[in-house]
Amino acid sequence: MEISGKTKIMFILADPVAHIRGSVVLTRELRALGHDIAISPLHVKPADLEATVRAIRGFHNVVGFGITIPHKIAICRFIDELLPQARLVGSVNFVRRDADGRLTGDNIDGAGFIDGASESGIAFKGKRVLQIGAGGAGRSIAFSIAAAGATALGLSNRTEAKARDLAQAVRAAYPQCDAFAAPADAAGYHAVVNTTSLGMKPDDPLPIGDPAHLTPDMTVSEIIMSPELTPLLLEAQKRGCRISLGKSMLEHQVRRLEALLAL
Ligand SMILES: NC(=O)c1ccc[n+]([C@@H]2O[C@H](COP(=O)([O-])OP(=O)(O)OC[C@H]3O[C@@H](n4cnc5c(N)ncnc54)[C@H](OP(=O)(O)O)[C@@H]3O)[C@@H](O)[C@H]2O)c1
Repeated sequence: MEISGKTKIMFILADPVAHIRGSVVLTRELRALGHDIAISPLHVKPADLEATVRAIRGFHNVVGFGITIPHKIAICRFIDELLPQARLVGSVNFVRRDADGRLTGDNIDGAGFIDGASESGIAFKGKRVLQIGAGGAGRSIAFSIAAAGATALGLSNRTEAKARDLAQAVRAAYPQCDAFAAPADAAGYHAVVNTTSLGMKPDDPLPIGDPAHLTPDMTVSEIIMSPELTPLLLEAQKRGCRISLGKSMLEHQVRRLEALLAL
C-alpha cells in the first residue's frame, strides 16, 4: 500500500491497540471503493485524550478518526458537535475532521446494522424484536431498531441493569416502541438480534435459551464478523429463519463512514 502526501489519513484511538483489526479492514474496504486513504491505530492513554484531539485539529491531511475502548464516551467532551445518534447513545465511534479543524462525532453502529439487515431482506417496522446484549454496539443498535419502527424491543443482557437502563432510554427517545428488559427467549418475537460477543469462541454457549423456540417466520441477525456463520445463525438457518450477517453491518458502516467523512 502506498501512502503519499495526497493520501487521506485516519486514526483509530484506543488503549490498548495490539488487538485492533478495524484499521486493516476499514483501510481495505475504503481502498476497494477507490479512496486513497490509510488508517492507523493510535495508542492513546485516557489522560492524553484531550491533548491528542487538540493536536489532530491541526493535522491537515487527517479526515477523521475512529474511537474505541476506552474512549467512546470520554471523546464527547472534546469535540465540537455530536450528531443526533451519538447524543442519544451517549458515545461516538467516528469523528469527521473538517478542513478548519472542526470535529463532528457520530455513532454509526446502529445505522450500519439496520442497513445490513435491510439488504438481507430484514425490516423491523411493526415487529417485536428480541435483542441480546446491551454493550457498546448494542446500545446504538437498540435505538436504531426503535427508530426503524419496531413496536416492542425485549432487551436481554448478562448484566441485567444495563438492559433495564437501555430499555428506559429507548422508551424515552421512542415512546412508540415498548422497550423492556427480557429473558433471552425467542418465543413470541418476530426478530432476534445478537449484539453480544457470544459465538466468537468455539465453546461459547448460544446467546439465546432454547433454539427450538426459533420458528421459520422469525429473522435472526448477528453482528459478530468472525466466524461469519455463528452457532446461532446455523441454528436459525436449520430452522428456516431468514438471517443477516455481521459482515453486512460492517460493509454498511463503511458506506456510512464514507458519507460522514464526505470522502
Ligand atoms: N459487525 C460490526 O460491524 C460490528 C461492530 C461493532 C462490534 N461488533 C462485534 O460485536 C460484539 C460486541 O461488541 P461491543 O463493542 O458491543 O462489545 P462490548 O461493549 O464489550 O459488549 C459486549 C456485550 O456482550 C456481552 N457479553 C460478553 N461476554 C459475555 C458472556 N460470556 N456471556 C453473556 N454475555 C456476554 C456483554 O454483556 P455485559 O454487559 O454483561 O458485559 C455485552 O452485552 C463483538 O463481537 C464485536 O466484534 C461488530
